[in-house]
Amino acid sequence: MLKGKCVVLGVTGSIAAYKIANLASALVKLGADVNVIMTKNATNFINPITFETLTSNKCLVDTFDRNFQFNVEHVALAKRADIFMVAPASANVIGKMAHGIADDMLTTTILAAKCKKLVSPAMNTNMFENPIVQDNLQTLKKYGFEIIEPASGYLACGDTGAGKMPDPEVLLQYILREISHEHDLTGKKVLVTAGPTAEAIDPVRFITNHSTGKMGYAIAKAAMERGAEVTLVSGPVNITPPMFVDVVNITSAAEMADAVKSRAGECDIIIKSAAVADYRPTTVATEKIKKKDGEGSTIELERTEDILSYLGSHKRDGQFICGFSMETENMLENSQKKLKKKNVDMIVANNLRTAGAGFGTDTNVVTLITADSADELPKMSKEDVAHAILDKIIK
Ligand SMILES: Cc1cc2nc3c(=O)[nH]c(=O)nc-3n(C[C@H](O)[C@H](O)[C@H](O)COP(=O)(O)O)c2cc1C
Repeated sequence: MLKGKCVVLGVTGSIAAYKIANLASALVKLGADVNVIMTKNATNFINPITFETLTSNKCLVDTFDRNFQFNVEHVALAKRADIFMVAPASANVIGKMAHGIADDMLTTTILAAKCKKLVSPAMNTNMFENPIVQDNLQTLKKYGFEIIEPASGYLACGDTGAGKMPDPEVLLQYILREISHEHDLTGKKVLVTAGPTAEAIDPVRFITNHSTGKMGYAIAKAAMERGAEVTLVSGPVNITPPMFVDVVNITSAAEMADAVKSRAGECDIIIKSAAVADYRPTTVATEKIKKKDGEGSTIELERTEDILSYLGSHKRDGQFICGFSMETENMLENSQKKLKKKNVDMIVANNLRTAGAGFGTDTNVVTLITADSADELPKMSKEDVAHAILDKIIK
């Protein structure tokens, strides 16, 4: 995923420095060329040998060290970097970076780097809240650095408050968002719906379906990785939402319709992958419906709103609308009819009789149907299907 990408990690004198070994290791596993630059004080917290072993690259500490390969001296490394992350960033290095001080290898290299720069402050709460540190962070923002908000919690110094470096997995997501994919959806607003809806019958029971939300969540993540501003309207699912995506949780089809309608107008691309329940009870019992043995009870149902038809009939110029269809027979014919009837631009059709397609699985087998094409894709992971859908939309 990160093959050919050069990641520079700057590590400073904070107790959180040891956590960066996990980040370096995760980046190497994803194929990145990882180069770590430590301040001299950081070497009190973690030994450079740890990073050298994990990255197979020399860990740079001293600007005047003559034992280096020419292509890793500070200017060359700054030029090669696709992304530069300083984590943990001490109050001291934040101050130096904000004021253009370059008195060690880390601050010198970052001053020479033109790539995206991420800074993850880590320090005692009183230090973090000090207006001098806050002003320095504002200055860094002014110069285009992105500041990763520290988490709140129990700190190594024994205080509780803001100043905790986020876990390496979170830092990794910041890096992946920047360099894992080409940002061909920058400036686009994308709305994705995912998961099932649940229609209450009484306070205990509800009507729903087998959708797990995996496909929609994969699409939302893929669009975010490609630079889009993504809103994910999600029914009840058991998936951790992707970072950097605005998630709107709903339960019923009516809530889904409201959430979509109030946002659709401002979106460039709308992908309705949610499996909205087609029917809901006309009235919801306020108490649990009780049945005697052998007796049935009748629930009257009415159709829920057809959200895709609403979107098609309110489509504005330049907007792209994509729906999904699940068919057991005549997949192509039925999907093409749906495309025309609902006035949408693309239908992603699943054949429910195909192994590895549809609900619950990690793979999908789909055909992308537009007015003038039908691209049958092989069995792929839902992540790859998500990117294939976005490729087709961008085309
Ligand atoms: C045990 C210990 C933990 C420290 N943790 C932090 C920290 O989390 N954040 C910070 O800004 N400074 C911390 N410091 C202070 C810095 O190490 C100190 O300001 C140092 O000069 C920073 O050097 P550097 O910015 O060149 O790495 C800590 C010091 C010690 C002794």
